[in-house]
Amino acid sequence: MAMSIKFTVTLTIFLLIGVGLAGLFMQPHVSYDAWNINKSSFPANASSEEKLTFLLSYAILAPSSHNSQPWKFNVSGNQIDIYADKSRWLQYADADKRELHISLGCALENLLVAAEHFGYETNVTYLNEGDLVARIRLEQKSLTAQVPAQAPAQAPAQDSRLIDAIVARKTNRNAYLDRPVAEADLQKLQDSAKGFSKDQGIQFYLTSDPEIRNKFRNLEIVADQTLYADANYKAELGHWLGQGVMGPTGVQALATQLAVVFLDVGPEETRKDAELVNSTPVLGFISTAENDSISQVKVGQAFERFWLEATALGISLQPMSQILEVPETKAELTEILSTGIGGLGYSGYLQHIFRLGYAEPVEDHSPRRAISEVLI
Ligand SMILES: Cc1cc2nc3c(=O)[nH]c(=O)nc-3n(C[C@H](O)[C@H](O)[C@H](O)COP(=O)(O)O)c2cc1C
Repeated sequence: MAMSIKFTVTLTIFLLIGVGLAGLFMQPHVSYDAWNINKSSFPANASSEEKLTFLLSYAILAPSSHNSQPWKFNVSGNQIDIYADKSRWLQYADADKRELHISLGCALENLLVAAEHFGYETNVTYLNEGDLVARIRLEQKSLTAQVPAQAPAQAPAQDSRLIDAIVARKTNRNAYLDRPVAEADLQKLQDSAKGFSKDQGIQFYLTSDPEIRNKFRNLEIVADQTLYADANYKAELGHWLGQGVMGPTGVQALATQLAVVFLDVGPEETRKDAELVNSTPVLGFISTAENDSISQVKVGQAFERFWLEATALGISLQPMSQILEVPETKAELTEILSTGIGGLGYSGYLQHIFRLGYAEPVEDHSPRRAISEVLI
């Protein structure tokens, strides 16, 4: 008996040392280099492909669910194709690929903002062919237009507000301050998405109604409890946390992965999310007229443009997807919004949710894969 206790203790110590060493050697490598992009480095005299690849440096800074960065790009001549990288799809959190397509739309919008800044005219064809989601043709205006001989090779610099916001934007998961967002700013944000509302049937609903916030918080609690009771969801979340792409990095990332998978972190995460909702002055909802992948890519575009405007205005934002990841809470929220509480006049398919407010700034960016890793 004494022998077997000694043996078990020795084995446990060896296992712990083994896991620790494996953790040290197998630390996921993450990089923040992608954020060191500088507008003045645009290779104005290089080949078309090199210039378009530079524009992609902005696309890869886009937000994506679990920072999965589920994109691949092909650059050829004056054309960029955007593909979904399905190996990075969150099959449990995002069974219907809604978040995957929204993430791709965010990357597309960053690309278009950068292209506009550097004087390109763009033409986007949306596709639903295998993994190909969008084909963008880009023409540099200054090269095609009749310009005086002394004109610079690069088009005149555009307003830098949005392209600078691409590099400044971060998800802010702090509690938000007890301070209302000015009506004029909310209107500016609504206006930023107007083009998408009119042409694409995409609607933004912003509300400060405490009754909706309370109902929303209660649904958030149910959604969190449901998700954290699901071993597959936890394994998937743990996998991405273990990659060091959301929050902790290195050995800490691996420890966080083990905690999410093996410990009962659900109650604590649920409590934190409820508090975050309680601190939120404005909740935002996005709906579409159609429920297809192309509409979802366009939601990503509209949402990213909205987020860039918010960043430029000093307003913080955090997407909150849990309620939409559980069919029952998604249906209940749709029902609540459809009854017109707070005069939202809601209609359509619910695609995305976020909270908005003022907050202490977030210090660090999250890591990104290098361009070389996402080029086909
Ligand atoms: C479609 C989509 C869904 C997201 N859902 C959540 C969410 O539920 N909770 C959250 O904290 N962040 C969410 N995010 C934000 C991502 O986690 C974040 O963009 C990613 O970790 C990269 O960090 P960054 O935005 O600071 O660059 C979501 C982002 C997208 C595009």
